[in-house]
Amino acid sequence: MKKLLFQFDTDANPSVFDTVVGYDGGADHVIGYGNINPDNVGALVDGAIFTRAPKEKKNTAIFIGGSNMDAGQQLLLAVQQHFFPGFQVSVMLDSNGSNTTAAAAVAKLAGSRSLAGKKAVVLAGTGPVGQRAAAMMALEGAQVSITSRHLFNAEKACFAMKQRFNVELTPVEANDFESRAAAIKDAHIVLSTGAAGVELLKPEHWQQHPYLEMLADANATPPVGIGGTDVMDKGQLRNGKIIWGAIGFGTLKLALHRACIAKLFESNKQIFDAEIIFELAKQMA
Ligand SMILES: NC(=O)c1ccc[n+]([C@@H]2O[C@H](COP(=O)([O-])OP(=O)(O)OC[C@H]3O[C@@H](n4cnc5c(N)ncnc54)[C@H](OP(=O)(O)O)[C@@H]3O)[C@@H](O)[C@H]2O)c1
Repeated sequence: MKKLLFQFDTDANPSVFDTVVGYDGGADHVIGYGNINPDNVGALVDGAIFTRAPKEKKNTAIFIGGSNMDAGQQLLLAVQQHFFPGFQVSVMLDSNGSNTTAAAAVAKLAGSRSLAGKKAVVLAGTGPVGQRAAAMMALEGAQVSITSRHLFNAEKACFAMKQRFNVELTPVEANDFESRAAAIKDAHIVLSTGAAGVELLKPEHWQQHPYLEMLADANATPPVGIGGTDVMDKGQLRNGKIIWGAIGFGTLKLALHRACIAKLFESNKQIFDAEIIFELAKQMA
């Protein structure tokens, strides 16, 4: 019985990254569909749940991806609403690597020092990775702020995470180097999750910071998000601060993503979203 992974992407083109990791995680075939939304997913789900005998259904699984976190969440709900007792397959949500990247970064930070009671700032935290990472740090007991170039975006992201995880995040507008430096003034932890190739802090904004303990940067595309750090940093001490670079924790992200794909095929009743993926990340870290 072949292991089939149906990749439902909310973007027009199913992510190549997610396809490759689907194979590397153990699927025999990865079948990608683009522009999938709650209105057109029904027939695809039917095809996945009706085709194999109960004990063989674990060999079919669904992966939900795409660049829009909100669209991914809506699609996950729509897929689950199509299931009924005896007719379901396992599903993973990881829009833009949101859950696996956020879980790997936060697990590495939490493995370096406790996050409980710390002030954390997620720079440009309005994308899929930043939103999930902010929620995960809040679930670990940190007081978390999300910055954006526009207050409205930050408020929207905080509201979405409150709705999904019941966590209180603080929105902050910060649209240039000075305002981002001001946003991290009292922080113990900074996680940078800006778009690829965008520098959000210069070295002088953090190197002499009196309270900052840890920094992590998700952006591996030059220039890095936090100037003066290196993508390869794996808990490296720089200016007395612990640094995790994008490749430094990216090894865990990839291992985690592959491990989740492998686990999808262990039974047909699993839903891999932030909580389960984060728990697995902490074990693997
Ligand atoms: N290390 C890994 O394993 C790994 C895996 C996956 C992704 N990534 C990286 O993780 C990062 C976050 O991914 P994502 O998909 O969440 O990011 P994203 O949605 O592309 O961008 C995140 C936020 O960056 C802000 N932004 C965009 N252009 C900007 C600019 N010119 N100046 C300042 N801010 C800007 C936007 O916020 P506002 O418009 O609200 O300001 C946006 O919401 C990316 O760098 C991605 O490449 C890393």
